[in-house]
This record gives sequence, structure tokens and C-alpha cells, in this order.
Amino acid sequence: MSESKTIHFRIRKFNPETDPAPSWKTFAVPFAKGMTVLDGLHWIKRNQDTGLAFRYSCRMGVCGSCGMLINGRPTLACNTQVAALKAAMVVVAPLPNFHTVRDLVPDLTPMFEKHQAIRPFILREDKGEMDAPTAEFYQTPHELEEYLQFSFCIRCGACMAACPTMATDRDYPGPMPLAQAYRYSADSRDGGFAERAKAVDRKSGVFSCHFGSECSAACPKGVDPAKAIQLMKRRLVFDYLRLFKAKKPCGGVHGQRTTGRREGIPEAPEYTIK
Ligand code: SF4
Ligand code: FES
Repeated sequence: MSESKTIHFRIRKFNPETDPAPSWKTFAVPFAKGMTVLDGLHWIKRNQDTGLAFRYSCRMGVCGSCGMLINGRPTLACNTQVAALKAAMVVVAPLPNFHTVRDLVPDLTPMFEKHQAIRPFILREDKGEMDAPTAEFYQTPHELEEYLQFSFCIRCGACMAACPTMATDRDYPGPMPLAQAYRYSADSRDGGFAERAKAVDRKSGVFSCHFGSECSAACPKGVDPAKAIQLMKRRLVFDYLRLFKAKKPCGGVHGQRTTGRREGIPEAPEYTIK
């Protein structure tokens, strides 16, 4: 695509307070090398439609604000190069499976409420140590690997928009909160599995996932929420069958290697913390 070319953006416009139904508007935008979809939206807002509503912040794929449906795929506008789309038209709509606040702005409130419900932080019984730690909580590289990739989530909602179960069941927590429920439960410092199990093991809960894996295909950060959901299911089944003994979260003793691993899982190779 040469720099003098024009690219057309077809954008879904909708103000639920004034419009009876969504409509589509097409804009001709000058193409520039390296231009992202978010750059194109900014150009349109500056030059053709000052009322166009979209959400963004970091412009570098970190904050998770600019999730939208681009040429049929839920992804980040700031992380999507127009040239990489290899299309004459960039079709942009708000993320599906959410109500629209306006134009390209989805209402992410239900996602964050479901995220809150799984208690997305380390839970431990030794609250005193949590509030005023006397030492670091050590982990082996193997223990870190158990949850690391799931911690790269930026809460953009692309996986929620791609999920076929979300499309038919609004009570389903969705891939992001479920993946985070597993992320914290798989952390050797955490002891909150039983509490999170109550939030996800219910009607319309984690077992409603039928492993379509659309969530993992959509994730712009390379997180695999479908895998986390299957691991959460496995953990719940094993827990039900009493195949795991209750897990004790690791303690924080100065200079001492502590793991807090569940019984029944092979131990990590020896590792000395220096
Ligand atoms: S798992 Fe991926 S797609 Fe889903 S909210 Fe997190 S970063 Fe976005
Ligand atoms: S603006 Fe922050 S992720 Fe796109």
C-alpha cells in the first residue's frame, strides 16, 4: 500500500439515548505507513466526525482500553496495523457480548464485576503476614510457570467478545474472570481456591465452557484462557474426588526455600534461591 493511498473506514455509530438503531458511516482516511486502526479513528475524529466515541489510553497494547471488533475480529485498535489487515476497507464495531455505551465504546462493567467476584488477588489465612510481611514469599521457576502466562492479561475484553457461551448466557463469568480464577488458584502463595470455587462452580459457571477456544485465538496478549478454564475444571474435579489434599500456601521465611505445593503434583527440580 503506497503512502498516497486512501483507506476507507466503515464505522458502526450508535447513541442508545437518541438513535432508534445503529447505523454505519464510511470515511475516507489518508493512509500513512505504520498507521494503526486507532490512528485512523483519531484522524476521523479530528477531521470528519468530532462526535465519534472510542476509548483508548496507552496507545501501546498495555492498558486494554481500545478493544473493538476490527474486520470481524475482537482485538486492540492500537495494536492493529491497517496494512496488516490487507483489506480495502477497515470495518470497525464495538465489542460484541457487551452493551454499547456509544459508537465504539462497550460497557465493560459486567466483566469487571465478574472479575471482582473471583477475588483476583492472593488470599491467605495468615492475614498478619499479608498486611505486614516479615519476609518475601519465594517461588521456584516451576511454580512461577504454573500461572505466569495468565498474568499477562490486560482485561481488554476481546476474549469475552469472542466467546460463544457468553453470546448465549449472560450469567456465564466468561474467559477473562475464569482464567484469572485459575491464575490466582495456581499461585503457590495463594490459599483461596475453595473460595473461588464457590464463585465459578455453579450453574452457568466454569463447566458451561465447551472449549471452543475462540477466546484464546482472540487474545492480543497471547494468554490462553481456554487452557486456564480446562485446568480449573480439572482442579475442581480432582478436588471433588479428594485427589488433592488441602493446599497450604507457602510461607515467607527469610532465606528459606518454601513451595506450598499441593501433594500429588511432581516437585520442581531443585533450585537454590541466592
Ligand atoms: S485474556 Fe487476553 S483477550 Fe481476554 S481480557 Fe485478558 S488480555 Fe484481553
Ligand atoms: S490504547 Fe491501551 S491497549 Fe490500546
